[in-house]
Amino acid sequence: MIAVSAASGALGRLVIDRLRTRAEVVAVVRDPVRAPAGVQARRGDYDDPASLRTAFEGVERLLLISSPELDTPRRIAQHQAAVTAAADAGVAAIAFTSFLDADTAPTGLTEAYHATEQAILATGLPYTFLRHPFYSDAFLPRVTGGELTSGTAGRGLNTAFRSDLAEAAANVLTGETPLGRAYDLTGPLWTHPEVAEALGVTYREVPDSGRGPMSWINGLIRAGALERQTSDLEHLLGRPAETVIARLLGGEPAQ
Ligand SMILES: NC(=O)c1ccc[n+]([C@@H]2O[C@H](COP(=O)([O-])OP(=O)(O)OC[C@H]3O[C@@H](n4cnc5c(N)ncnc54)[C@H](OP(=O)(O)O)[C@@H]3O)[C@@H](O)[C@H]2O)c1
Repeated sequence: MIAVSAASGALGRLVIDRLRTRAEVVAVVRDPVRAPAGVQARRGDYDDPASLRTAFEGVERLLLISSPELDTPRRIAQHQAAVTAAADAGVAAIAFTSFLDADTAPTGLTEAYHATEQAILATGLPYTFLRHPFYSDAFLPRVTGGELTSGTAGRGLNTAFRSDLAEAAANVLTGETPLGRAYDLTGPLWTHPEVAEALGVTYREVPDSGRGPMSWINGLIRAGALERQTSDLEHLLGRPAETVIARLLGGEPAQ
């Protein structure tokens, strides 16, 4: 039996969709009312360790989807609760949706991911770390007034779509992929000027507006921090990952 935690979220639903015909699946959700239809649902709240211990009973493989909690110490405690519950319940292997550089960057953006990887390693359980990039879904450029603008200095983004990351996770959970390793998952590199050209519109560089999260991320992009490329996602998918240009020209793929 495969369990997926945080299964009511955008990523969790996509993973469940891809698993439901391939394995016995249990959706672990904090509110059963929000569980994806058509699969067994169990209540498992990251803030309620006892619920996680019960939810993971009889589970062979767990996909631990990271919590959206913004407070880092609380998020680490939530993940630690899930890892402890999995070990106590006798789960045979854990896959965790981590983040790129979680192995080498123990502070900042990846602090909770790093701590969780360490917590999983400490259990001694077989593991798979699926280190995600930023999701393309949240970065799809929009054309306004016949032009496409960004503050990215034309630098590359290695984002990937949730749908491909979900499929990669489903392949790891159901396949013969060797355990005990990490996959640094990056999507096909793209730039805003390339997208503008593909869409036949003008590209214009604009300064960041304000000090919000997008300005912070644009700073990372301008510094080239999102240009790392690996073949791990393509390897897990057995095909190239979907590009931002293909999504924009082709519309939403069937889910
Ligand atoms: N790589 C990226 O660019 C990126 C971007 C955003 C987020 N993330 C991370 O990736 C995860 C999955 O992304 P997503 O797009 O699927 O996020 P999402 O749609 O916001 O889903 C978050 C999920 O977490 C569940 N959750 C929240 N608090 C919980 C708790 N205390 N116990 C158990 N479950 C809880 C939610 O349950 P309810 O349905 O009950 O609310 C929901 O199922 C996020 O949680 C976040 O850690 C990554």
